[in-house]
Amino acid sequence: MPFPGLPDDFLWGTASAAYQVEGAVAEGGRAPSVWDTFCARPGRVRDEDTGAVAADHYHRYREDVALLRDLGVGAYRFSVSWPRVLPGGRVNAEGLGFYDRLVDELCEAGIAPAATLFHWDTPQELEDAGGWVNRDTAARFAEYAEVVGAKLGDRVRMWMTINEPVVVTLFGYALDVHAPGRALGFDALPVAHHLLLGHGLAARALRAAGCSNIGIASNHGPVWAASESEADRTAAEAYDTLVNWLFADPLLRGRYPAPELAAAMPGPVAEDLKVISEPLDFFGLNYYQPTLIGAAAPDEESAVASAPLPPGLPFAPKPLSGYPTTDFGWPVVPDGLRETIALFTARYGDDLPPIYVTESGCSYHDGDPVAGRVADQARIDYHESHLAALARAVSDGADVRGYFAWSATDNFEWAAGYRERFGLIHVDYETQRRTPKDSYFWYRDVIGRG
Ligand code: NOJ
Repeated sequence: MPFPGLPDDFLWGTASAAYQVEGAVAEGGRAPSVWDTFCARPGRVRDEDTGAVAADHYHRYREDVALLRDLGVGAYRFSVSWPRVLPGGRVNAEGLGFYDRLVDELCEAGIAPAATLFHWDTPQELEDAGGWVNRDTAARFAEYAEVVGAKLGDRVRMWMTINEPVVVTLFGYALDVHAPGRALGFDALPVAHHLLLGHGLAARALRAAGCSNIGIASNHGPVWAASESEADRTAAEAYDTLVNWLFADPLLRGRYPAPELAAAMPGPVAEDLKVISEPLDFFGLNYYQPTLIGAAAPDEESAVASAPLPPGLPFAPKPLSGYPTTDFGWPVVPDGLRETIALFTARYGDDLPPIYVTESGCSYHDGDPVAGRVADQARIDYHESHLAALARAVSDGADVRGYFAWSATDNFEWAAGYRERFGLIHVDYETQRRTPKDSYFWYRDVIGRG
């Protein structure tokens, strides 16, 4: 047994995403994505960092796969860049060829390729036509899924359509924190619907292309009320509905969690929900932290970096005290993972497919390697405690099949740039030298014990 309390055939993995690691943004016929555009806007990304070079994975994927092979992971979750594969809407053989080679390299290393189709890099030309506010983007996404599925479906062993639809909706379209940098507030609700529709259409397109083992990677966490007062409980419930169940209910139950939300959605919603609730082979859960929510004072601004809500909303995130925090300021609450899984099990019962934790991880500002070593005990503690929480979820009766540590290498942490380091492998961005951290060797031992 590789980790006490986890199943013998548990799938051990790591994860990454195209824009965060690949670089080579102007090579191989790739067209710009919304993140290229966003990064070029002064002041939007910390230190004006961009993903132009990132961890240069586009050129160094062989070295990265060799490191993953030595790590012993059973699967590697990567994302395919839509604007690399379909620049200007036309199939780009060179772009598709990169993923073809990456997948072959993984297979030769004995690592199951696990592909995400959309990890936030919408082609800029689709954004110019409205992006995810426009229903047509969902149809275009399904066409793209078909192209990728036809090419890689014979070797990819796990598919995730969309990564974290709530973050795209909230940070990208409602709050102007991420690309494409729109501040639509509640008018961003159609984005949620179109992402979900895109997921359902893509899942169907993948199946039609002969692919199997299809899911999503959706982030969830418990929402705790700041106090027992009715005002705080009502506020927490509203927030919980918006960030958790607005996304999970349509996928797993075929309906929106509240009639007002269904009414806010565009198009033939009832028909769309049939597409959206296309059965999943697994539910991919990204977990980072719980959120503490209370009723908001009229002009209260959020003091919580991971939930930067503006004033004027009926709820306000509050700092979660009493827990250690990562160097990114995020509270470390392993049992929140167990609680999230328990909430899903209670809510969906038999409608819940097997769960994979498709992401969990932490940023610590590791210094440069010293004599070839990066001592990151805090990252080891993070993963170990979250795996222990997962083992408790399994003993509660949950069907959890795998864990993907975020992330394989250090990478571009979106609006927070390169300062945040989530990797098991350190990247020196000056030289692109990779140095496995202590957490890499710890994870290797955990996997190897199996
Ligand atoms: C979730 C996202 O999927 C990933 O891209 C990001 O780097 C991690 N969380 C850490 O914030």
